[in-house]
Amino acid sequence: MSELYKIVEKILENGKGVLAADESTGTMKKRLDSVGIESNEKNRLIFRETLFSSFSIKDCIGGVLLYDETIKQKTSSGRTIPELIKESGSITGIKVDTGAKTLAGSKDEKITEGLDGLRERLNDYYKLGARFTKWRGVYIISDKYPSKLSISANAHALARYAALAQEAGMVPIVEPEVLMDGNHSAKDCFNKTSEVIKRCYDELYLNKVDMKGTILKPNMILPGTDSNESISNNEVAEMTLECLKNNVPSEVPGVAFLSGGQSEIEATNNLNEINVKNDSSFKMTYSYGRALQQSALKFWSNDINNIKGTQEVFDHRARMCTLAAQGKWSESIENSK
Ligand code: 13P
Repeated sequence: MSELYKIVEKILENGKGVLAADESTGTMKKRLDSVGIESNEKNRLIFRETLFSSFSIKDCIGGVLLYDETIKQKTSSGRTIPELIKESGSITGIKVDTGAKTLAGSKDEKITEGLDGLRERLNDYYKLGARFTKWRGVYIISDKYPSKLSISANAHALARYAALAQEAGMVPIVEPEVLMDGNHSAKDCFNKTSEVIKRCYDELYLNKVDMKGTILKPNMILPGTDSNESISNNEVAEMTLECLKNNVPSEVPGVAFLSGGQSEIEATNNLNEINVKNDSSFKMTYSYGRALQQSALKFWSNDINNIKGTQEVFDHRARMCTLAAQGKWSESIENSK
């Protein structure tokens, strides 16, 4: 079996998911500011090392996505962060795009950059211990967006990235994120997400990406955050499954959703419902940032020396998400800590 397939299998085994701890320094500053903690290199390391040395990394987290700063940092005991992750039996991943910038030709939209010099950076990350990677394309919804230009340009970049990641021996996580911002309906989200994902796979095929050695990281199908529409977990699951079954090639082994601004409980409940109803060949799991870290961050900010307490909060969340990835989560389990 190709090494890439083994990596995918290990990340997704038994309801495991991905901890997306790859916030850029700017995004991490926003997260830390929101709980009144100064964003400096030391504090970012303390919080992340706390999470990465939790029990649930071994039992629930198949892969940990890092940012460039973190993959080069050393833990308090002198090991590198990838060594710490490996000791727990998890796999190190790395965000390799360099962020979303204004798209020339459609100034309200963004194009993700980072292709220049990517081959060399990928080889460096491999040497540091990374075995999977992430690239995020970002799309807005309105009556005129996402534009054909944004759909085409971002799909092209995602596909060129994915081909280069596989060439370097690493699994690409392909993340086309249709944002929740706006007053659009769930049906609009369904239609636009379908168009975005379909176009991504057209480009991935063109770039000869081996689908079996990839993971898709999409948004779930939800109404916009400013919309008055309210839909059930059941409807979210049905629309999300339909969108993916219609547009993702069946050779793709797994889908690891982003949480995108949903609360921890919503993201868990929706993932559970998707798995209860899953009649596709795809494994459906999580690659959450906020929906795994929010409570832990809040708890930690009250006393940054309370490592054990913070880890307990994180472990609970990771366990709940892994149960949801198996379709075994319930509100009573959630509340019976
Ligand atoms: P959220 O789960 O907070 O959306 O983050 C996931 C992610 O990696 C976005 O790129």
